[in-house]
Amino acid sequence: MSHIAQIVDFDDANYDPFMEDDLVFGDLLDPYSIIAKLREQGQVIKGDYRVACGVYPDITMGDRQHYMVLGYDAVAEVFAKPDVYSNFAYGFNLGISFGQSISIMDAPDHTRYRRIFQKAFLPGTVAKWGETIVDPVVKQLMDSFSSRGKADLVQEFTLYYPFHIIYRQLNLPERDAPIFQKLAIAQTATAIDPSHGMEASRKLGDYFSSMIAARRAEAGDDLVSTLVRTEVDGEYLPEDVLISFFRQLINAAGDTTYRGTSVLLAGLLQNPDQLAAIYADRTLVGPAIEEALRWDGPVLQATRYTKNDVTLCGFDIPAGSILDVLSGSANRDPRYFTDPDKFDIFRDRSGVKHLSFAAGPHVCLGQHLARVEMTRALNALLDKLPGLRLDPDMPAPQIRGSMMRVPKHIYVRFDT
Ligand code: HEM
Repeated sequence: MSHIAQIVDFDDANYDPFMEDDLVFGDLLDPYSIIAKLREQGQVIKGDYRVACGVYPDITMGDRQHYMVLGYDAVAEVFAKPDVYSNFAYGFNLGISFGQSISIMDAPDHTRYRRIFQKAFLPGTVAKWGETIVDPVVKQLMDSFSSRGKADLVQEFTLYYPFHIIYRQLNLPERDAPIFQKLAIAQTATAIDPSHGMEASRKLGDYFSSMIAARRAEAGDDLVSTLVRTEVDGEYLPEDVLISFFRQLINAAGDTTYRGTSVLLAGLLQNPDQLAAIYADRTLVGPAIEEALRWDGPVLQATRYTKNDVTLCGFDIPAGSILDVLSGSANRDPRYFTDPDKFDIFRDRSGVKHLSFAAGPHVCLGQHLARVEMTRALNALLDKLPGLRLDPDMPAPQIRGSMMRVPKHIYVRFDT
């Protein structure tokens, strides 16, 4: 068996990127009232969304002008026109840590590589992982608290399960999961802490480089083995593109789904009548997931760059600008969603779609996996934890953040 290097922790092993979460993504309980006021001024307005929310500006963006894209029509148009609204924007921040990831590419490179990576995450493929990978991880974590009658569903469950699922898919050593998780998270702290972001990037890069070599020499039946042996025009995928994809994957697959599942559970527990309805009718699981993603989708903001002067919904934006593209605003645009601030799993979903996975060619590559994970996690909780309710003796969940949303704790009780 070929040797894979050991993953190396931060030089300062006490550094905890989770402590920086509020600085990186903001800690507002309610950014939506600020967003609503901004949206009243227009579909597009000049200004930096981070600054509007009182969050540290993204130092990697330099002094480029920011514009906020707020209305549903404007957000949808930006996602639909990648030739006008470039993903080059992420090159300033995420590119520092991820490297040549598909998120920072435009066509034709993006089209070329995305087509290959996407094959591994099509609905038919990820549906099979439900039983083989998702369920065992969910069960293992739930076994540690399901007979206790109470738990913190974030700190004991949602914070770990999607990370462990992607680690199993990549066949990473389970004992090193805490180090991988810290390095994965730190990569997105580059906006305010580039040095830890780069340290994480370097250490993950070294690890993935040796992992690629080992799997090329001796393939297993894991996702990495498939990807490293994929050929394009008679050649393997370039090593820097593969490494960047793995760097991104161990972050994007874990952090977003942890947040999305936590928001879903908080929404249901704060609306016990809707939770009771799901206990009685599991066909409501799918609508509940879509409603949680619309109501408080974990990725509130995307970023784009204008390579030329453009006019968006009547608003002129000069070349070289950064667009703060607020899916979280589009998802609560009252012109498209009735009573938009309300969490309502019974909402009529036949019309317009939420934009929490973005749209267009960069639409979330893992959306099908995320839905499988959230569906199986929620069903398992409902199966194993009857009478699930908020713990009256503990603080209620508080969903926080301006760019990324999550409650840090969800204290619950249940019948045993
Ligand atoms: C609830 C969970 C998730 C949410 C809300 C979410 C959200 C998003 C959004 C909004 C984007 C587009 C960003 C942009 O265009 O600027 C995106 C892209 C992406 N997501 Fe997810 N994501 C989730 C789960 C996942 C999972 C499980 C994976 C792992 C397979 C994943 C992998 C990716 C990748 C690789 C991209 C880049 C796609 C590209 O640029 O072509 N995501 N995600």
